[in-house]
Amino acid sequence: MSSKPHQIIGNSTALKATLAKAKKVAKTVLPVLITGESGTGKELFAQFIHDQSRRAQKPFVAVNCAAIPAELLEAELFGYKKGAFSGATSDKDGLFVQASTGTLFLDEIGDMPLPLQAKILRVLQEGEVRPVGAKAVQKVDVRILSATHRDLAEMAEERKFREDLIFRLKGYAIQLPALRERGHDIVKLARAFLKSREDFTGTGLSRDAQTLLMAYHWPGNVRELQNIILAAAVDARRNIFAEHLVGHLPDTVGVEDPNKSVKERITSALQQAGSLALVDLQSRLKIPKPTIHRHLSRMVAEGDVSRSVVSGQTIFALAAPDSEDEMPQLTQRQEQAVALTRALGRITRQELATELGISIRTASRELSALVTMGALGPDGQSGRMAGYRCLF
Ligand SMILES: Nc1ncnc2c1ncn2[C@@H]1O[C@H](COP(=O)(O)OP(=O)(O)OP(=O)(O)O)[C@@H](O)[C@H]1O
Ligand SMILES: [Mg+2]
Repeated sequence: MSSKPHQIIGNSTALKATLAKAKKVAKTVLPVLITGESGTGKELFAQFIHDQSRRAQKPFVAVNCAAIPAELLEAELFGYKKGAFSGATSDKDGLFVQASTGTLFLDEIGDMPLPLQAKILRVLQEGEVRPVGAKAVQKVDVRILSATHRDLAEMAEERKFREDLIFRLKGYAIQLPALRERGHDIVKLARAFLKSREDFTGTGLSRDAQTLLMAYHWPGNVRELQNIILAAAVDARRNIFAEHLVGHLPDTVGVEDPNKSVKERITSALQQAGSLALVDLQSRLKIPKPTIHRHLSRMVAEGDVSRSVVSGQTIFALAAPDSEDEMPQLTQRQEQAVALTRALGRITRQELATELGISIRTASRELSALVTMGALGPDGQSGRMAGYRCLF
């Protein structure tokens, strides 16, 4: 499958249902509001609706309302008369007039400034525009498509978008599914992006790369997929493996819970199981081995995870908490004993008794207690010369 300029790729149920709606509404002149997360293909669908419409041979004019400064947008949309403002050296048709008999696509409509929203509403109601600085109005016959990744109803509640304009724009609504809701389309799209590039001929997708692509939650949708695939293809010699993708994906590769990081998921798996080999972690978490390995190595280096070899197999477990955390509370006298030992390097029963003004018996008891707690250890000498050293 090669991707021609406006070809919409995918045959998931979610995408097919949306395409069917787009085809049907294309034959009408109803205004269509296309919504969906960033990168889901809103612009592509707008072009598709125009191409499928009776106006296909007429102009398709697209304007990105977020990209043009508010003060220029009005002149851009409605046109202007010579002398309307400094720099207006001749009459200029606006985009509504340029799109006449065809389609005007108002992209990122949610970013349109409120004062301009009122003027757009008037055009849609009256079917006529008044260029900036003009006395007379001009009739226009334009089919309006619009798109936004914003929630216009929520914006209306906050008085940031006119509710009456929403009704005018939304003759028919099309909500594009997020890429993560399109199942195997992810792989289909990835293959199509590779095929569309002459510089990547023969580049394939390994099974673990496909698993990884399917597991990721794609907040940036199709555009993000396109970027990551093409970047990974630069690193890959021939086939793209998971390891080529991970360097370009953010760390939060998730399956069940997209918001939970790989590190958190490894930690909770190790907490539940006690210890696990790499293959067990992989089958539990359904994350490709290279990704798990990369995170495990980092966790081992940071001291969060311990690695040991049991019967020739490497086993990972959560590292024991620092011994300091486990240290039992020392009495004041015991703390003095430890401090003295540290200061002197080693200490005998006699020395401790003299320094603290206690009996040799009490000194012996305290030293044994400190040895049991793991704070001090015998230094190897015996009898009266037996000494103790600090162990931390
Ligand atoms: N189903 C699809 N098949 C093929 N290409 C697609 C598909 N959906 C999106 N694309 C491609 O992905 C890119 C992003 O699509 P598009 O610009 O239409 O998204 P958008 O929803 O308008 O994004 P944004 O909200 O960021 O403006 C484009 O290059 C487009 O051609
Ligand atoms: Mg867009």
